[in-house]
Amino acid sequence: MCGIVGILGKEAVAPQIVDALKRLEYRGYDSAGVATLEKGVLQRRRAPGKLRALEDRLRQEPLSGRSGIGHTRWATHGGPSEVNAHPHATDRVAVVHNGIIENFKELKEELADHGVIFSSDTDTEVIVHLVTRELDAGKSPREAVPAVLARLRGAFALAFLFKGEEDLMIGARRGSPLAVGYGDGEMYLGSDAIALAPFTDRVSYLDDGDCVVLTRDGATVRDKDGSGAAVDRPVQKSLVTSALIDKGNYRHFMAKEIAEQPEVVGHTLAHHLDMGAGKARLPEGIDFKRLDRIAFSACGTAYYAGLVARYWFEKFARIPVDIDIASEFRYREPPLKDGGLAVLISQSGETADTLATLRHCRSQGMQIASVVNVPTSTIARESDAVLPTLAGPEIGVASTKAFTCQLATLATLAVAAGKARGVLSDDDEQKLVTSLIELPRLMAETIKLEPQIERLAKDFSRARDALYLGRGTSYPIAMEGALKLKEISYIHAEGYAAGELKHGPIALVDENVPVVVLAPYDNLFEKTVSNMQEVAARGGKVLLVTDAKGAKQAGGEFETLIVPDSYAFVTPMIYAIPMQLLAYHTAVFMGTDVDQPRNLAKSVTVE
Ligand code: AGP
Repeated sequence: MCGIVGILGKEAVAPQIVDALKRLEYRGYDSAGVATLEKGVLQRRRAPGKLRALEDRLRQEPLSGRSGIGHTRWATHGGPSEVNAHPHATDRVAVVHNGIIENFKELKEELADHGVIFSSDTDTEVIVHLVTRELDAGKSPREAVPAVLARLRGAFALAFLFKGEEDLMIGARRGSPLAVGYGDGEMYLGSDAIALAPFTDRVSYLDDGDCVVLTRDGATVRDKDGSGAAVDRPVQKSLVTSALIDKGNYRHFMAKEIAEQPEVVGHTLAHHLDMGAGKARLPEGIDFKRLDRIAFSACGTAYYAGLVARYWFEKFARIPVDIDIASEFRYREPPLKDGGLAVLISQSGETADTLATLRHCRSQGMQIASVVNVPTSTIARESDAVLPTLAGPEIGVASTKAFTCQLATLATLAVAAGKARGVLSDDDEQKLVTSLIELPRLMAETIKLEPQIERLAKDFSRARDALYLGRGTSYPIAMEGALKLKEISYIHAEGYAAGELKHGPIALVDENVPVVVLAPYDNLFEKTVSNMQEVAARGGKVLLVTDAKGAKQAGGEFETLIVPDSYAFVTPMIYAIPMQLLAYHTAVFMGTDVDQPRNLAKSVTVE
């Protein structure tokens, strides 16, 4: 989603702002802009498209101001054009905005009645006109902003710059994250610590409702939209370094992140397991014995991680799991039990729907556990128990290493729950933990299949539609495989439970529709083979992903990709890898923008 950067600097800040915006490119955007104070006067440069276009504009008409704000915009209200790009400004104030102002229509009507003429289709523009009115009425910027914040509904992060105020920047947060960076005689605002990484590692995070006033000497934060008391938001050492957000020798972040999986899954497992003792660590404060069900919720890939986890929790801990996508969860009004456990899964920890579900569950008296990759995120901070995934920053929009780390974390939690509930014996626990300890090695072996997968991808890149089938835990992995393919190659793909094929999707099968079948050699293998035969009988092209035993049983009848043999428990983390590589190489063949696919955002902070 949109990215915000603000700098009160010592030299011309426009180049630094553009540089920081580049580090936010991963969030997804379709236009960009910068505003600086040029001898006290607000000046803007904006451009639709990628940051290259903004850089061209700045080359033609450079900005030299030492105070500035910048933005990458992911269009919501109004298309991706120069007039809709941020910053929005009057001659008195400029603003950049992440999120949505829900009551912008009524505010716009009110302003229009007072003669305000709008120059964009955005919801954001109402903010600058409202602040300008307050300034015109004699308020100072420090008074004007809280007065306007009180009138806004919706979710937002904002950064303001004011005419004639070289040493002042104001930021506000409600719903969308905003971080404050502390430099040496310089101060920064950023929508995440990644944006600020090369400038400073001293960062504090605003809470919802905070409004921050920055000068080069420091920051003052007030709660209640800036009308409350001064509050302390502790300065932390950010662990995000520039090195962590570098592509290294890889062509794309996604390729690097796929390759990193054995290592980061290893780190994640080491955190959640006592490897020496062969035990899964139970997070503090969660008493699985007293629970009679668990509610899981998440979006996209994280939701598929939850779907896999449901199989594990129901099998190993004998606890019923309710799971729904976060944008649906609270609206279907499920009966939730006071004292029950909700588990939210999110890479970014900022996904608006997942956060709203967390707050809904909290309001129903539930205990909240979250599986998150960003430990400073809002979801992490609002949870009772945080189970970190140690994937490191994930920059590619298509989630890869965060997904397998989510699975690894949930797998350890399911084992810990099974043990705590007395379902698993010491011996059972030991066996499951052993299979997890072996996992990083098996994942590394699976990655070695890349050349073969690259060859298969060439054929895939000619398809317009694809089907992915699986049973048991391979079913959510089939859905994840289909999501990966459509996200980055724009080929239409659907994941189905293999048994559902004949209830509808088989109508799509012909020689032009590749059908990827995920079938580890387990108790369901024979049934899945029957489904493959049904596809073959209709001229469909099957790609079977299985292990050596499965390949032998299938008898060489189908195009086959053989992944390492493993315990059934860990197959989801292994089979996810060929799905990622297939999507990746298909997209590379098609020449799409792999790391920043069209229309997508990394962190979805609007509902
Ligand atoms: C995955 O490839 C996606 N880009 C997307 O589905 C993502 O998983 C979803 O938006 C949830 O994000 P989160 O994990 O940051 O909450």
